[in-house]
Amino acid sequence: MKAPKYQWQPTTAEIAAAAGISPGEVERFDHNTSPFASDWAPVAAAASLPRLNEYPGADYRALREAAADLNELEPDNIAPGAGADELILLSGRAFLETGATAVAATPTYPLYEISTLQAGGVFNPVPAVPPDFSHPTDEVVRAARDADLVWICTPSNPIGNTVTDDDLATIIAATDGLVVVDAAYAEFNDDTWSDQVDTHHNLIVLRTLSKAFGLAGARVGYAMAHPDLIAAIDAIRPPGSISTVSVDLAVAGLGSSTRMAQTVEAISRARDELATQLTALGLRVLPSTTNFLLCEVGSNAHKIAGQLIDVGLVPRKFPADGPLEEYLRFTVRTASAHSRLISALERYLQ
Ligand SMILES: Cc1ncc(COP(=O)(O)O)c(C=O)c1O
Repeated sequence: MKAPKYQWQPTTAEIAAAAGISPGEVERFDHNTSPFASDWAPVAAAASLPRLNEYPGADYRALREAAADLNELEPDNIAPGAGADELILLSGRAFLETGATAVAATPTYPLYEISTLQAGGVFNPVPAVPPDFSHPTDEVVRAARDADLVWICTPSNPIGNTVTDDDLATIIAATDGLVVVDAAYAEFNDDTWSDQVDTHHNLIVLRTLSKAFGLAGARVGYAMAHPDLIAAIDAIRPPGSISTVSVDLAVAGLGSSTRMAQTVEAISRARDELATQLTALGLRVLPSTTNFLLCEVGSNAHKIAGQLIDVGLVPRKFPADGPLEEYLRFTVRTASAHSRLISALERYLQ
């Protein structure tokens, strides 16, 4: 089966042009990025500039060491990638052969299916059930018995909930295949999963600098796993997909967990305030351990998304034929962005 194309959202410039506003007035509630500019980044990036005539060191030793230090692992437990996205695609290519089966609870992050199909595998979705969309662990366990790979997104995008340690252990024990845990939002739930990679040699945990560390534009992520799995990823990793500037930014970011923790705290507080405001508008807001909120808006969700985009407020909407057709997802932004969103919703929800 041909892999579907990843659906890019319209760019900020396109949305601004259509709305007749400046790009600075567009608020991205759809990307799950940090609302805070990383004001420390220019200094960290500046150190790389005199070295840009040379390639980055292909082993990315400094990045592996920084990620290993933060997670109390060894550098050979770490594979760097140009974002978690590159590692999702590499995991499919490294571990799935033609006709192999990969399982995931759905709705989920679309790249797992794309990675599976690009590798020639078969994607077996296990639907989570509305209205709470809790992780269908029993069904995933049943499907995992015959699977070559299980994708687990926890905390989950787009739902916002988590898979418990016990459920993860049950899934890992049920399969002879590989389990790839995408923990892109782990910092918002105090999860690291790093302690699990020593115990489970069929587990890969993916992390990113794009969310809690505020470096989405730098494109850096890393995989944590047993050294044999890391070697399999390294064997097919492009030699220089992470730029020298991005490496320096990521090493600086990983080295300041206090700054990251402060960001997570501020975003979590803002998330809870936004949840209260959205609930007061009569929307059902699903519990979230992430930097976004999934809301049940109703049958006019797509119409409201269009109205919001027309004024430069961009929510994440979902396919019309899927289980989240009547839902919108909002990334946590600043207080002023939230008040623009709430006033607009007050108008459009009437
Ligand atoms: C679950 C999940 N995994 C991976 C990514 C992409 O991460 P990165 O920016 O590191 O490629 C996202 C981005 O939204 C995500 O939600």
